[in-house]
Amino acid sequence: MSSYTFEELAALHAVARALAQPWDLRDQLERVLAEMSERLGMQRGMISLLDRDRGEAMLEVAHGVNLEGMDVSYRAGEGITGKVAQTGRPIAVPSLGQEASFLDRTGARRHLKNRDELAFLCVPIVYDSRVVGILSADKLASDVADMDRELAVLSSVAELIAKAVQVLALEDENRRLRRMVGPSGGTDLDLIGQSKGMQEVYALIRHVADSATTVLVIGETGTGKELIAKAIHANSPRSKGPLVRVNCAAIPDTLIESELFGHEKGAFTGAFRQHRGRFEEAHNGTIFLDEVAELSPSAQAKLLRVLQEKQFQPLGSPRQVTTNARVIAATNRRLEDCVAAGQFRTDLYYRLSVFPIVLPPLRERGNDIILLADHFVLTYSNRLKKPVKRITNAVIEAFLSYPWPGNVRELENCVERAVLLAKGQSIEMMHLPPSLQIKSPDEQNRNTGMLGAVIGAQERSMIIEALKESGGNQSQAARLLGTTKRIVQYKIRKLGIDPAKFKKAKRTG
Ligand SMILES: Nc1ncnc2c1ncn2[C@@H]1O[C@H](COP(=O)(O)OP(=O)(O)OP(=O)(O)O)[C@@H](O)[C@H]1O
Ligand SMILES: [Mg+2]
Repeated sequence: MSSYTFEELAALHAVARALAQPWDLRDQLERVLAEMSERLGMQRGMISLLDRDRGEAMLEVAHGVNLEGMDVSYRAGEGITGKVAQTGRPIAVPSLGQEASFLDRTGARRHLKNRDELAFLCVPIVYDSRVVGILSADKLASDVADMDRELAVLSSVAELIAKAVQVLALEDENRRLRRMVGPSGGTDLDLIGQSKGMQEVYALIRHVADSATTVLVIGETGTGKELIAKAIHANSPRSKGPLVRVNCAAIPDTLIESELFGHEKGAFTGAFRQHRGRFEEAHNGTIFLDEVAELSPSAQAKLLRVLQEKQFQPLGSPRQVTTNARVIAATNRRLEDCVAAGQFRTDLYYRLSVFPIVLPPLRERGNDIILLADHFVLTYSNRLKKPVKRITNAVIEAFLSYPWPGNVRELENCVERAVLLAKGQSIEMMHLPPSLQIKSPDEQNRNTGMLGAVIGAQERSMIIEALKESGGNQSQAARLLGTTKRIVQYKIRKLGIDPAKFKKAKRTG
């Protein structure tokens, strides 16, 4: 398409501005439709969200159409909206009066005398190469000089609102998921997140929960290792038995053995009475050995024996205790490194790592960040009795681009703090800790709002795709993108992409 006219540019600008307002997403999108009507003559604008599970498009936001009490949905392929949802291609109808597949589900045009004079435009809203929604509007046919041009303008609007629509779709999906899981859902793991990485983790949990297999949970600090241990226990046949947690890092070296295996009265100075060890307490249940890399060499030797023989001897006791405790261990260190450094027994390492579950860091879980943030807003506004209900777009942008070194725990703390600080119903930038508010000077200068964020996200995903394709080779990525290596290097640094990561990605497929 030839470049935008002044009116079109002004309209796109107004759309970007509406998206930068600290309003509820639905209000933002309704304003977008209002601007399109005022500035582009596109009336009765509608935004439908695509529910991927059911393959239905649900009308969510409209302008010039009264949706009160209406529940409008289109099945895949049904009507024009359903067709666009199904094919992902725009459709333009020059005259509504003559279009058989036009359903007018909302009834908004039933009493219009000029139906014949109306053109109908409908485009997909695509985010991350997936159709997440459908945008449509009517326009007086006499105002339409070039149908393709109208579709192109509408598609630009669809691009601008894609991220907001995606977030709205996620919110809806989340609400549905929460309803589905419910308070007594049986398999409810209390774990939030739908990313591929977390789906794999859920599959592993389901796979291993039933057995008595030893599990090693590996993940950076705050990724949810303890929660995973709880989920495995809760979904295992021993859920009625005890779950006993031992923090191996918090107990002094000299006491760890007595803590784990117990002792007889007088076994060592200060052992005034007999003490039942944690392994004995965990009989018929689960023992969770947190920070297992911190175990002393002698405790490692004893632990190895328990794992091999299911038996141990309390300190100073001739008694052989048999335990039926299932072992789940966790570590945030690379145990291989501890083995190489001679700090961790190789044989114990092999015993513990029969069934490893690796938790991805939060920064690799994509939109889970939004799901988790929503979840914590709900949790803390209930707990703190505050009316906070939503997170503004700017904050979502900040959340999505922050690397979260403290992972889920850091996000949880951050949301709790924001809920505490918030005065109204929404969490805004000023409620975030300084580390999340700092922007690169570059970004501050441009201050491009939603439009910049959308472009940034697109740039980012293009560069990541190219790096995946080239296995991390930046020169080759530059060739694939039709640009220079210098520019790729600059963007990688600016967008905080780690090219080394894609070396592995290529090998594993
Ligand atoms: N997927 C998740 N869904 C909901 N809450 C989560 C999730 N993962 C972690 N959390 C929450 O984040 C916090 C940290 O989780 P947890 O204590 O399990 O992490 P950890 O890996 O054991 O951390 P550390 O290494 O610091 O011990 C907890 O409050 C937990 O409830
Ligand atoms: Mg922990």
